[in-house]
Amino acid sequence: MDGNGRWAKKRGLPRIFGHKAGLGTVRKIVEACVKLKIEHLTLYAFSTENWIRPHSEVNGLMNLLKIYVRKELKDLQKNNVRLSAIGDISKLPSGARAELQKGINETSGNTGLGLNLALNYGSRQEIVRAFNLMAERGMRKIEESDISDFLYTAGMPDPDLLIRTSGELRISNFLLWQIAYSELYITPVLWPDFSEKHLIEAIAEYQRRDRRFGGAK
Ligand code: IPE
Ligand code: MG
Repeated sequence: MDGNGRWAKKRGLPRIFGHKAGLGTVRKIVEACVKLKIEHLTLYAFSTENWIRPHSEVNGLMNLLKIYVRKELKDLQKNNVRLSAIGDISKLPSGARAELQKGINETSGNTGLGLNLALNYGSRQEIVRAFNLMAERGMRKIEESDISDFLYTAGMPDPDLLIRTSGELRISNFLLWQIAYSELYITPVLWPDFSEKHLIEAIAEYQRRDRRFGGAK
């Protein structure tokens, strides 16, 4: 979800206004995914690198997380959405963490869209953590499936489609292991302007791709 800051700057507004507008997009895109019967949506909300932003922006983002879960929980329930998080959420401020944990607990029985928030998430950190967990268990002869099982995303399928907004041509430490065969879709649209229509365009483009997973045709 990239481009909130640029969206605000274009309007002469402080960056946090871009994040607020971005939250509106989250609500709309989650609803669209429910309607489209998408099974998993992972949103990269806060990276392990984002802590170096000014305190006021970090606090603002954490506050928005709290507000989102508090305000949306009823609708998430109604829409049968199951909330989860990946990343080291133990480092989030206690208020945001408590709200998030409540949302995760209360929606754990839902069977519709899995809405997965990447929070204090970094893919290299996740991979190192997986290897340390395997080392602690004395595991040797590591298989690909072992690595998958020790990532935060254990049990979730690898993404079919990765959408990056705001035109940046990089992955930025996101799900590096999991996206080995994901289709990449990069749009210049800034996240606050990203709409259901853009999502459907991305899915339509995905459906036109020929996925061979290294095979021939
Ligand atoms: C949202 O966009 C990303 C986060 C919520 C951390 P940015 O804040 O990165 O926006 P730009 O890149 O400055 O436009
Ligand atoms: Mg950015």
